[in-house]
Amino acid sequence: MPVTAIVGAQWGDEGKGKVTDYLAASSQVVARYQGGDNAGHTVVCGDKVLRLHQIPSGILYPGCLCVLGGGMVVNPRSLIQEIEELRSLGAFRGKVLLSGRAHLIMPYHIMLDGAVEAKRGDAMIGTTRRGIGPAYQDRAARTGLRAYDMTLPPEQFRARVEQAVREKNVLLERVYGQQPLDAEAVAAEYTGLAAQLAPFVGDDSLAIAEALSAGAQVLLEGAQGVLLDIDHGTYPFVTSSSTTLGGALGSLGISYKEVQRVIGVMKAYQTRVGAGPFPTEQKGEVGERLRGTGQNIWDEFGTTTRRPRRCGWLDLVSIRYTARVSAFTELAVTKLDVLSGFERVRVCIAYRLGEKELRSFTPQSDVLQQVSPVYEELPGWQEPLGGIRRFEDLPGNARAYIRFIEEATGLPVSIITVGPEREQTILR
Ligand code: GDP
Ligand code: IMO
Ligand code: MG
Repeated sequence: MPVTAIVGAQWGDEGKGKVTDYLAASSQVVARYQGGDNAGHTVVCGDKVLRLHQIPSGILYPGCLCVLGGGMVVNPRSLIQEIEELRSLGAFRGKVLLSGRAHLIMPYHIMLDGAVEAKRGDAMIGTTRRGIGPAYQDRAARTGLRAYDMTLPPEQFRARVEQAVREKNVLLERVYGQQPLDAEAVAAEYTGLAAQLAPFVGDDSLAIAEALSAGAQVLLEGAQGVLLDIDHGTYPFVTSSSTTLGGALGSLGISYKEVQRVIGVMKAYQTRVGAGPFPTEQKGEVGERLRGTGQNIWDEFGTTTRRPRRCGWLDLVSIRYTARVSAFTELAVTKLDVLSGFERVRVCIAYRLGEKELRSFTPQSDVLQQVSPVYEELPGWQEPLGGIRRFEDLPGNARAYIRFIEEATGLPVSIITVGPEREQTILR
């Protein structure tokens, strides 16, 4: 059972990129399974800081097969940019395979994402405006363009793009009052991009099956987090893909029998970017302290959009839920170092709703907006943790914090990270 899945246990930005990069050292395949360039995964290795959006976080390892899975929506324009940037940094060391089943994000998807958000007004989701929702909409409607289409004879691909743009122009103009796109210009540009990307296109399921037969270790890299999952997240304040283990297996077409570990990656506290319920959110001094000022790379500002992230205390009610719906076998707790310096730290263990105490999470956003958290207060620690590499060397109160998480979730914390660098990692 050589497959390890890495799944976000909160609302995204848990440190999946860092954990994936760390574990990729002993893997031959890293496969992203959903989302697109809404994701921003930070990998820090020596003097290199990579902000990966679509390329899997195994790209720094020579020979590593980096798969963009069939469940993804891929933006050809930004993918080419990302590949060029990585090449210029000398960081494009792995091999890339783009699933032919992955859907393409087109310029009209991006325009529609913005137009629909603007129309929502106060009910805005706060999307990344990368065209994710509209691209998945076309996938479900069976009208999307796929990476396989980029391997067609250029004239055929060009005609398909032109046709798609003309159809979407009707919607853009008549419903959203937008300027139409120049169908010929878009088709010409995308035919050029297709020629550059076609050599990467292939069958992800088959490639992974062959790698497994040859004895490879395979990492599945999630984007976003379970609380942003289209089915299990805080709908409608979610993304449009399946972020759970189930989504990973469906996207890539691999068997559950191959999966040995499912690592839920969680921050030592809670963050969210965009709208939607967030029971433990701290709007005052605590929230600001967790967020930082934006000067450090790890401060809580979006990797993709630079929006300030909303911050709050750890919510174990939601972690128990994400562990259940995505079958975590263990947890990775990141950014424990950020909690240093608090006199006392709080952890949410239940919600109060009127007279009732809720011990389990609900994905009903309307209800979550009304709950108030029930906290357990734990003693904090003052020492900086960035230089610590062994669990035994952590301050007693930091160890007690980790043990509290383990007891509340019934899961072992097998990885703790204490800084953004690859080696600022504690294995247990
Ligand atoms: P992802 O989307 O889940 O890959 O997470 P992001 O990269 O968007 O956000 C996580 C941020 O935290 C990045 O800036 C990382 O460099 C940083 N980071 C990851 N682990 C740690 C850690 O243990 N401590 C600190 N201080 N920063 C970390
Ligand atoms: P990574 O992989 C955090 C959020 C957006 C918005 C909602 C829907 O870096 O963890 P979308 O553009 O997907 O339609 O936006 O989801 N969101 C993320 N939040 N991390 C991400 O990715 C996110 N990708 C989308 O802010 O609330
Ligand atoms: Mg991120």
